[in-house]
Amino acid sequence: MEQIKLTSVLSVLHWAELTEEARKTIEAAKEASYRAYAPYSNFWVGSAVLLEDGTMVTGNNQENAASPNGLCAERTAVFSANSLYPGQSIKMLAVAAQTGGEFLKEPVTPCGACRQTLLESEKRFGKEIEIYLYGTEKIYYLKGIETLLPLSFCSDTLSV
Ligand code: THU
Repeated sequence: MEQIKLTSVLSVLHWAELTEEARKTIEAAKEASYRAYAPYSNFWVGSAVLLEDGTMVTGNNQENAASPNGLCAERTAVFSANSLYPGQSIKMLAVAAQTGGEFLKEPVTPCGACRQTLLESEKRFGKEIEIYLYGTEKIYYLKGIETLLPLSFCSDTLSV
């Protein structure tokens, strides 16, 4: 039986190792988390996207009593950026989450639906996104969503 091994490699960084641009994007994501609407989960998530022209757009999770109606911070940020600036590709995205008034120690990792949305954005603009997943003790950095979404379904598959 043939087997295929899928490997994902990401970098574990600390604050001192980040570029100024990455720090600003993470700070914007942290700040956005305070404006989340998360009365049901009490899990406050913020996301920031830095566009190619330097514009920063933020989003946060928006919950609803009918839970499927809510939206994650990452998709709120990406959809907002794409709706306001449809011609601008996303250079960088950061996510930060807090609960009980404390930011998570471990990096917060996007849900499957958000991963798929980030993939769409990469394909749309033909550019990999620099992704920073924030935790107070460490930060995960990955270039391109492929690391988090191997064997993905995308427009390339449709045109085969
Ligand atoms: N959530 C996000 O906004 N982003 C993530 O990466 C993980 C989860 C939100 C969805 C929901 O409002 C709450 O966190 C709990 O799942």
